Amino acid sequence: MATRLQTREMMASNQFSRRQFAGLAAASALGLSAPSAASGQTDRSRKSEPKRRARSTFPKGFLWGTATSSYQVEGAVNEDGRGPSIWDRFAHTPGTISDRSTGDTASDHFHRYKEDVQLMKALGTKAYRFSIAWPRVFPEGTGSPNPKGLDFYNRLVDELLANGIAPFATLYHWDLPQALQDRFGGWTSRDTSKAFADYSAYVAARLSDRVKHFFTINECSRFVHLGHGIGADAPGLKLPQAELNQVRHHVALGHGMAVRAIRASARAGTKVGPAENAVSCIPAIETPANIRAAEMAMRELNAGYLTVILEGKYPDTYLAGKDAPKFTAEDLRIISSPLDFVGLNVYTPDHYVIAAENERGFTLAPFPASFPHMKATWLRPGPETMYWVPRHVAKVWNVKSIYITENGTSGSDQPAADGTIYDVDRIMYLRNYLAQLQRATSEGVPVSGYFLWSLMDNFEWGDGFEQRFGLYHVDFETQRRSPKLSASFYRETIARNAVA
Ligand code: NOJ
Repeated sequence: MATRLQTREMMASNQFSRRQFAGLAAASALGLSAPSAASGQTDRSRKSEPKRRARSTFPKGFLWGTATSSYQVEGAVNEDGRGPSIWDRFAHTPGTISDRSTGDTASDHFHRYKEDVQLMKALGTKAYRFSIAWPRVFPEGTGSPNPKGLDFYNRLVDELLANGIAPFATLYHWDLPQALQDRFGGWTSRDTSKAFADYSAYVAARLSDRVKHFFTINECSRFVHLGHGIGADAPGLKLPQAELNQVRHHVALGHGMAVRAIRASARAGTKVGPAENAVSCIPAIETPANIRAAEMAMRELNAGYLTVILEGKYPDTYLAGKDAPKFTAEDLRIISSPLDFVGLNVYTPDHYVIAAENERGFTLAPFPASFPHMKATWLRPGPETMYWVPRHVAKVWNVKSIYITENGTSGSDQPAADGTIYDVDRIMYLRNYLAQLQRATSEGVPVSGYFLWSLMDNFEWGDGFEQRFGLYHVDFETQRRSPKLSASFYRETIARNAVA
């Protein structure tokens, strides 16, 4: 076991390797010592410690994990028969990515997945959420599969299982085969919904002997708006509202069709659900009236995706007016196919809600200019979001099983003179969000696991490599991975099953 001094020396010489990191007892590293006679604590404080811990732990068996996505980490875009995706096309279009980078190499996870599984293991995580690149499996989107493409995920899954880490696979994390954009106009057509279901069935049939949890589609609300409404994400479209609502309908339909296709093709017991960043509605002040108003806002502001998935109908307010999507009653039945869980990506409070005597029953407080943000200006810290979003989803829609499929923040992540990244901003953010998650689970909100975004720095879409979300720093020149201080924080939290 390394002494504190050795630890400091390792960090100073930037030799904080994966193995050393794994071997470090948290007690000797970074001053995270458990109470001991030698630590100088008084008898009184020592006695009160176990009680405090008992109150603040997460449920027994709570699943701790990390998350990534294919285009953001894999690289190897031309290997083993992978076809191009809309993100390859978009990132290679001048003016789309702030630092002019692409995901061509990204974090080179395709070649370094074994090393990366060891990074997960060093944290003590027991689950990994990754996504499958559709164009690796079907380079043309439909038609002939490319078995070599799926082989990468076979290798990854086997490596995870051999290391005691449960694979959680997302089927769509935005890298649509370019061929489908060219042939059908991508999600503007329901042909893409059908193609997504066929691809999902193919993958589930081959992986569900080992992968027990599948997420259908990641963050519909983001890629519909940014990719099809304002052109900031692939495929870079700027559609009018009615067409945008139709795109959202096709995505919801694709989700529902995939749920059914997975049930038909996967091994019995395979679990499936969405991974959505619900529009988050937080009571501005926790009064019964505001809480009720926030629940109503939640339903209304998520009308086009979570609400229709979980209720089987669009709210009347969403259908009023000229922009309503076109759909059939059968579409709604498919979209609302029963789920095993709901995955929630939780980052930031979208709205603080106040009860009001108006038609909607609420007003949304404007954000003052002085509201703080993390490194990314969109990422306003509001730790209570982590309490309210799962609580609303459980209460409003009677959902019995929830995973937090993403949560995390970017930071400036400058190495200090000793080479270490002391990302206390990320630790502050995580500590506060996790405390709120613990509050939720202690009140019985049915959250069974948490996936931190992200395992390591990666390609952050339009922000290129300028926003780093990893627990591990990646030097994109050498691909060297090194733990930030937050990796120790997460490791300690997992070991205690309580916020460190
Ligand atoms: C959610 C997305 O799913 C993920 O791809 C992205 O990197 C993070 N948010 C951070 O922006």
